[in-house]
Amino acid sequence: DSYRECDKKTSEFKENILKELRKVFTDESNILRTGKENPYNVNYRGSRGNFMEKSPKELLCLLKETSLKTLRRSDVGNHPLRDFIPKRALFENKRFNSCAIIASAGSLKNSNLGSFIDSHDLVMRFNNAPTKGFEVDVGRKTTIRLLNSQVVTKPQFNFLTSTMYKNVTLVMWDPSNYTSFISDWLDHPEFNLFMNYMAFRKNDQKSRAFLMNPQTIWNVWDFLQDNSPSRLRRNPPSSGFLGLKLLLPFCNFVDVVEYVPSVRVTRRCHYYDPEDNPSCTFGVWHPLAAEKLLTFFINYASDNEVFQKGYVRIAGFKNMDC
Ligand code: C5P
Repeated sequence: DSYRECDKKTSEFKENILKELRKVFTDESNILRTGKENPYNVNYRGSRGNFMEKSPKELLCLLKETSLKTLRRSDVGNHPLRDFIPKRALFENKRFNSCAIIASAGSLKNSNLGSFIDSHDLVMRFNNAPTKGFEVDVGRKTTIRLLNSQVVTKPQFNFLTSTMYKNVTLVMWDPSNYTSFISDWLDHPEFNLFMNYMAFRKNDQKSRAFLMNPQTIWNVWDFLQDNSPSRLRRNPPSSGFLGLKLLLPFCNFVDVVEYVPSVRVTRRCHYYDPEDNPSCTFGVWHPLAAEKLLTFFINYASDNEVFQKGYVRIAGFKNMDC
């Protein structure tokens, strides 16, 4: 009976969280109907669908077809950046069984998920999310870090000197306009990360440090809008969802930890920072509510694993026959 009681609590919690995410999602599309706020000049020409009307497998196959790439030398013409871009591609033919993505949510605090996280073959973290001092909750292993261009450029993050960015694979991203060419972006990045990128690569020529192809970020946005019935915020997807798309080709499965909120959900934005900001979890700037609803829909972990333990599990692309 106590098991049944527990199941009942989990499904009540699940309904509330999904309701909350759907509410943000609908409110957002109401605001967007005014046609304002389009800083990246998104002129979406596709037609909106509904992920609920497709199967998880169909959606995964559509996500597999969506191209998200790192920037290659051949993409940048004669720009000085050219010679700093690694000749080898990200992970090349490497494959991993289990991968974990650690969304930096406040609900990781007191989660005790450290050893679960470290048991994965690959661990992805974001931005300046620390492990030191938080090992019990977030583990100590980092294979890859996805960094936004603010972390690369703003002095408070010490990108060039901090040990947080050493001895791990780095992928840095900065959004371009929806329709702009790479050459436009090279001239007008949102935060100019190129100087620090080149300096970083110069300091350590063996480093595995990549830039994301900014045009392909919008392919991921298009995928979300193609499969969302409401209009989405016309800003790039969050690092969490970009990270998921980036890893799926290389892993048998990906566990995304505290992305879909568990029973530990809190108003705190990050586990490493006391600041309250519920919009980090439910989304304002990114189309986060849509990302999370879709990610939950395609995941195959049990409700107990998602809402009590705190992770969704997504099947990697390599075993999918689409
Ligand atoms: O805040 P930051 O961008 O560093 O967090 C990394 C990613 O983790 C976000 O892009 C988002 O996908 C996820 N996140 C979340 N809920 C939070 C904080 C972060 O889902 N409260």
